[in-house]
Amino acid sequence: MIEKINELKSDIQNASISNENELEEFRLEFLSRNGRVQKMFGLMGSVPNEKKAEVGKAMNEVKNLAQATFDGAKNSLHKSEEKTFSATQDISLPVQPTYTGSFHPLTRALHQIKEIFLRLGFNIADGPELEDDFHNFTALNFPPDHPARDMQDTFFVRKSDDPNQQDHVLRTHTSPVQIRLMKDKEPPIRSIMPGRVYRNEAVTAKSYFQFNQVEGLYVDESVTMGELIETLVMFAKLMYGSDVKYRVRPSYFPFTEPSIEMDVWWDNDKGGQWLEILGAGMVDPNVLEAVDVDSEKYTGFAFGMGVDRIALLRYGIDDIRTLYENDIRFLRQFTS
Ligand code: PHE
Repeated sequence: MIEKINELKSDIQNASISNENELEEFRLEFLSRNGRVQKMFGLMGSVPNEKKAEVGKAMNEVKNLAQATFDGAKNSLHKSEEKTFSATQDISLPVQPTYTGSFHPLTRALHQIKEIFLRLGFNIADGPELEDDFHNFTALNFPPDHPARDMQDTFFVRKSDDPNQQDHVLRTHTSPVQIRLMKDKEPPIRSIMPGRVYRNEAVTAKSYFQFNQVEGLYVDESVTMGELIETLVMFAKLMYGSDVKYRVRPSYFPFTEPSIEMDVWWDNDKGGQWLEILGAGMVDPNVLEAVDVDSEKYTGFAFGMGVDRIALLRYGIDDIRTLYENDIRFLRQFTS
C-alpha cells in the first residue's frame, strides 16, 4: 500500500503543467471525484487496523501535495499571462489619449442659469414647441395683422388642409409658456421656462434660425420695476462675475409695458461690443386680462433671455453657428 502511495506521489511530482490544458488534465487525473487521490482513499478499507494511522498520514500528505501542485501551477500560469505582450503591443509607444465626454456649452450655460434662478426662488416650468397663434401672439397682445408680428419672422406649420383650422407656429419665443402658466394657476407665480425657439432669420455669426431662451415670470401683488432690474443685475453678476459691464435700455414689446433690454459688454479681438442678452418688462395689463388675472390686484415682471448669446459671452465663442455644427474639435474644448 505504501508503495502505491509513493508511486502516486512521484507521478504528481513529475507532472508537467505548462498551460491551461495540462492544468485541467492534472486536475482530472489527480483531484477530481474519480481521480487517483480519491481512489487511493477508497482503498483505506482494506488496510489493517494497526497500519491505518501510518497509511492515512501518507495519503493526506499526497493529497495536500496534489492540491498544492495544482494551486501553484494555476497561479504561475495566470501571472505569466499578465506578463505576456504580443509583438503588436509595443509598450514603448506613447499611449492613445482617451477623450472623456463633456457637457455641450449650451447645456452648461443653461445649468448655470437654472441654478441662479433656483437660488433666487424661481421654479421651472415648460411648454410645447409647436404653438397656436393664440398663445404665441394674440394673448401676448399682438393684435392680428399688427406690424409687431414682423419682429419675429415666423415658421408657420399647417396641421391640416381644412381652411378653418388655425395655423400653428414653431414658437418664436418662450413667452407663450407665460400664458399657459397664468391660465393654469393663480398668482403668486415665480417661474423660469427654458426652451428651444425658432425664427425664420438669416443665419449669421450672431443669429440662427433656432436658438434657446429662458423665460422668466413673476406675478404677485405689487411686483415692481425696481425688483425686475435688481433681479436682472443680480443675474448678470452671478453669471459673469461682479465686475461684469452691463447696461439696461428702454425697448418695446407688445406684452410688457414699460419694456427694457439688457446688454453685456463682449470683449473680442475687434475691441469689443455690446451684446443684447435679454428683453424684459412689466407684464402688460392686457396680457393679464387675456388670461383672467385681475390686473387691478396683481402686477408682474417678465424677461426672456437668449441662452446662446449668454453661452457665447460666457465661453468667449465668436460664432453662434459653432453651437449647432457638432464639430468634435470645437466641443472637445469644453471638457473639464
Ligand atoms: N419674448 C421676447 C423675445 O423673444 C423677450 C421678452 C420676454 C421680452 C419677456 C419681455 C418679456 O424677444
